[in-house]
Amino acid sequence: MTSKSIILAGGAGYIGSHIAALMLARDIDIIIIDNFANSSPVVFDRLERITGRRPKLIEADLASAQGAATVLDELRPHDIWGAVHLAGLKAVGESVEQPSRYYDVNINTTLNLINILDQLNATKLVFSSSASVYGAENKSPVSEEGVLSAANPYGSTKILNERLLADHARARSKWQVINLRYFNPVGAHPSGLIGEDPTGIPNNLFPYIAQVAVGRRPHVSVFGGDYDTPDGTGIRDYIHVDDLALGHLAAVDYLTNQNRGDVMPINLGSGHGHSVLEVISAFSRAAGKHIPIELVDRRPGDVAMSFANPSRAEKLLGWAATRSLDEMCRDHWRWQSGNRDGYRAAESNSE
Ligand code: UD1
Repeated sequence: MTSKSIILAGGAGYIGSHIAALMLARDIDIIIIDNFANSSPVVFDRLERITGRRPKLIEADLASAQGAATVLDELRPHDIWGAVHLAGLKAVGESVEQPSRYYDVNINTTLNLINILDQLNATKLVFSSSASVYGAENKSPVSEEGVLSAANPYGSTKILNERLLADHARARSKWQVINLRYFNPVGAHPSGLIGEDPTGIPNNLFPYIAQVAVGRRPHVSVFGGDYDTPDGTGIRDYIHVDDLALGHLAAVDYLTNQNRGDVMPINLGSGHGHSVLEVISAFSRAAGKHIPIELVDRRPGDVAMSFANPSRAEKLLGWAATRSLDEMCRDHWRWQSGNRDGYRAAESNSE
């Protein structure tokens, strides 16, 4: 692993905070850049409680020219490895309603980060991409050769960012980029101190189930019971957020150990699928609670089945997901039951 400082752009968010916990525990020097648009400063207290170390923070909006200038000034004294880039907006429904905001924030953040790294002579970047880059026509398991075509503006910004990074890497011979395409990240740190804290009504299955189990919502709507799957509900490749974080560490290690300019997409998924009903019953067991459901129409844009072919990650990074669905549910529940309203209670009485 590197002795240089690694930038975690968007490092206070759900996935970033789990990467930060792992890196701090391994004595890796990190600098988090975040504007707390969809995350909480309480994460820093929690990271300190978990690891005994508090990461450096640059609070700035990387999408703006002014924010980027602040970041560059603050980074200049440091010896920078490169960045793990997780900064951006990520709500699919919101991206359909506000496409120009999604293009603006998600593309400008990357453009500014590229420029900052160039100015600092840093050439390594791990990008937080998504399985949403794969068009619905791909059959699962989906490999990195799958057809790219996004069903919504959020997914389009992921495809565009991958292309932008690839083009930049080709124009600068030393640049090395890994685009990590996540399948469905869920779960939480086993300490129960950090986890996913969506604003408003959750769009995704796990946080929705968790909020029903903790009594914040009456029932889970199951989107479609007539898919061509064994129990009629949609199948997805859920991956524990700690497995996902380990995938980022493996990507950082890979880039650290090679100097050849390169750009590569890599799937991070388990290679297995679980149905909506399987997830609900596993969560119910983990929480020791009945979870009421209501069967409703399919959600537009959803496919019956999506899971990864993760063999490239195994071959190149030596990484594979190991945590089971039961562990994902147990850890997600520990976080949600200990933090009913996410970070909000801790925000009002500073820890
Ligand atoms: C969604 C996004 C994807 C994003 C990913 C992040 C869409 C169309 N896709 O993927 O771009 O990268 O989240 O994790 O939004 N379900 C229910 N009831 C609910 C919520 C979900 O039955 O209240 C079902 C869905 O129909 C699906 C499964 O649960 O079969 C998982 O849904 P979700 O967690 O939203 O993930 P994806 O749709 O796979």
